[in-house]
Amino acid sequence: MNFDTVVANGRVVTATDTYVGDVAIQGTKIAAIGQSELRKNSSHIIDASGKYVLPGAIDVHTHLDMPFGGTTSSDDFETGTRAAVFGGTTTLIDFAIQYRGQSLRRAFDTWMQKAANKAVCDYSFHCIITELGNDELAEMNALIRDGVTSFKLFMAYPGVFMLDDASIFKALRKTADNGGLVCMHAENGNAIDVIVQQALSEGKKAPKYHALTRPTTAEAEATSRAIALAEMAGAPVYIVHLSCNDALEKVREARDRGLPVYAETCPQYLFLSIENFDVPGFEGAKYVFTPPLREKWHQEKLWNGLKCDHLQVVSTDHCPFCFKEQKELGLDDFTKIPNGGPGIEHRLSLIYSGGVAQGRMTVNRFVELVSTTPAKLFGLYPRKGTIAVGSDADLVVFDPNQKHTISAKTHHMRVDYSMFEGVEVTGMPAVVLSQGRVIVDGGRFLGQAGSGTFLKRSTYSPP
Ligand code: URP
Ligand code: ZN
Ligand code: ZN
Repeated sequence: MNFDTVVANGRVVTATDTYVGDVAIQGTKIAAIGQSELRKNSSHIIDASGKYVLPGAIDVHTHLDMPFGGTTSSDDFETGTRAAVFGGTTTLIDFAIQYRGQSLRRAFDTWMQKAANKAVCDYSFHCIITELGNDELAEMNALIRDGVTSFKLFMAYPGVFMLDDASIFKALRKTADNGGLVCMHAENGNAIDVIVQQALSEGKKAPKYHALTRPTTAEAEATSRAIALAEMAGAPVYIVHLSCNDALEKVREARDRGLPVYAETCPQYLFLSIENFDVPGFEGAKYVFTPPLREKWHQEKLWNGLKCDHLQVVSTDHCPFCFKEQKELGLDDFTKIPNGGPGIEHRLSLIYSGGVAQGRMTVNRFVELVSTTPAKLFGLYPRKGTIAVGSDADLVVFDPNQKHTISAKTHHMRVDYSMFEGVEVTGMPAVVLSQGRVIVDGGRFLGQAGSGTFLKRSTYSPP
């Protein structure tokens, strides 16, 4: 048999195995895995000697082309997915937002239009529900049939996205029935609002007050409440962007009790801290996202949570706003700074560097966190998330020795700063394939806008 491409002699890594071998591709799929005999059957060989061959990474939390905070996130589906693939992410799950007064279907259709003809890699959507009546409960079933099998609910941002507990409970009960998975933004929005109003009345308006008005207890309380509501509903729950040890403890306790509770954290909570606000003037606005940065000691707790499976996924919560003109909307008042930070491009390098290169986890656990468990939890496995015959040929030839200093001068995201400016990482993608096509090779982009496909996902099953 002749193969279209063979990725030869790399160290193939899945969540469970590491071995030197050849991965042969036919069309969009992995057709064979073997030893050196495979490479004789193709005229297109990608030499992966001395490098890892990883399954394409999956980022389950991005906000591309998202209207928020009086502006719109600066990466659209073309620039955002392009930056993603430079970093080794070949699938992302973005959020289609139901604005109040609109149907869930309208949200889905709107985001499908945003992505079509733009995405350079595969994508899917969670649906953000901001208003939940009987119509929306019925629509949840319909969306699941169309492959939108997860829903994000907010316990924060009162008056914008926040749902009350009754609605959250109803949505959870619906997913217990229809196989959906609720992703929860867990912060006590009402209590936070009181603290925020007090800060403003005391003239505390600088960016760092965004962090100082959102205590870890507010995140832990909401995490605990989300878990209790899910337990009562008999549903699984996935806590998004977990930032602190207080919330982590709630997840760990629930998992120890055997509950189907899962959580992700993001590179910003592992690498940055509240000390990042110690910068002149308005610069701290670069770190205004929600939940906020915490004291430094939380970082090691989160790394340990990743290692011990108290946390199951690393996503980015990529939600970029340019410093000039967008973050500057909050020059005089931190509550007007659009919440979000850019991160879609550097997740693999950061987690490989901080995790594997620094001896905090195995390379298999790294793959599990950035690719395999995201695929399993969100209904994409085994099409995505592993290297196996029949899986999509989404592959990353990853050079574990290549060093790189992250900078806005060289990144591919459409945003004028980097949260990780000056951080030196070890480990970079060298070649990236999406459905059998080479889309990044040695720093050159070879993909095409619109070549990514929408992925219909299966319902939840425990990973
Ligand atoms: O600050 C953030 N995280 N912005 C994006 C919206 C969200 O809550 O995930
Ligand atoms: Zn959120
Ligand atoms: Zn988010």
